[in-house]
Amino acid sequence: MRLSQEAEKFYSLPELISLVSADRLQAVSRDIAAAGCYTPTPDELLAGAKIAWRNHARCSGRYSWRSLQLLDARSCESPEEVAEACWDHLRVSTNNGRLRPVVTVFKPRLEPDNQVRIANAQLIRYAGYKSADGRVTGDPDQVEFTQRVMDMGWRGAGTEFDVLPLVIFVDGKPPVLFEIPPEHVLEVPIIHPRFDWFKDLNLRWHANPAISNMCLEIGGLRYTAAPFSGWYVGSEIGARNLSDVGRYNVLPRIAEKMGLDTRRNASLWRDRALLELNEAVLFSYAEAGVYVVDHHTAAAQFVAHIERETAAGRAVPAEWSWINPAMSPSTTPTFHRTYDPPDFDLRPNFVKQDPPEPWSTDTQGL
Ligand code: ARG
Repeated sequence: MRLSQEAEKFYSLPELISLVSADRLQAVSRDIAAAGCYTPTPDELLAGAKIAWRNHARCSGRYSWRSLQLLDARSCESPEEVAEACWDHLRVSTNNGRLRPVVTVFKPRLEPDNQVRIANAQLIRYAGYKSADGRVTGDPDQVEFTQRVMDMGWRGAGTEFDVLPLVIFVDGKPPVLFEIPPEHVLEVPIIHPRFDWFKDLNLRWHANPAISNMCLEIGGLRYTAAPFSGWYVGSEIGARNLSDVGRYNVLPRIAEKMGLDTRRNASLWRDRALLELNEAVLFSYAEAGVYVVDHHTAAAQFVAHIERETAAGRAVPAEWSWINPAMSPSTTPTFHRTYDPPDFDLRPNFVKQDPPEPWSTDTQGL
């Protein structure tokens, strides 16, 4: 579809009709005809970003879509300015633990060599170091990314929880690395309400889940860098990041400390350890004053969201496997129902995009 058609479709959405005047629509058409581009006002951009969130079939946190805040970073040109805006994102959205939904929008992509990209999947992730014997220290999910930044000269402390640097590409130039200032990385040490030994596992996680590699598409414009964040569902951490066999895989260590029989599947040692870990995550975040939601509350909110949307005459496209929590899904209401099928052409939306041009170490220092 042509830009003018996509823009027209966007400005015809009910939320936009009430926001823009006939004069404004004419100005948009004129800009597209004259320059092949147009610049949404901050209000239009925020309305579009809220609808993109509401439309995203994989997000189970859409109950809160109306509360999204925008940080308009479209004027950032250099990698340094982009990094500064990312620190603003972390500061404003983390809000000292009272997390709030925020999207930071950089300039839209005009040409392949006129775009901003953040290579990191999330603003905050932990490094994964693979040693010669194949063992990983840190997050196995980040082994490849960690190797790439090390090829660029980065060195982490080598702990299980080293925060990775941001890798920013601007306008087709070689990527630039930025260490995240520690004051912008709020973390929670994981402790348990009854097991004193739990703290000795030295587990921790970060407060802010900020997805940074998706493309925000609004009105025919592609915002290739638009990091967004809300808050964690505890089970994302306790029933995936820390417990997946292919991630931190801590259940065997917990089960051993609990004295469970790990030789028999039927002892349900994994399930018992998983439950204690997830209780520990929710307890630790609460103790640290960091907002997190449990999967039962999150699921109930998602069902309430569907009811509200249905009353407003809107469909709620959703993917069952993404909406259900990783822990005890059948004890939540999101398990026992079906959803409107996802519509992959629905816009505005957050969409996956290819990683930025392969990072090449030869382009460094040339
Ligand atoms: N599951 C991802 C993680 O654990 C985060 C995805 C977004 N989650 C969120 N609550 N906004 O890092």
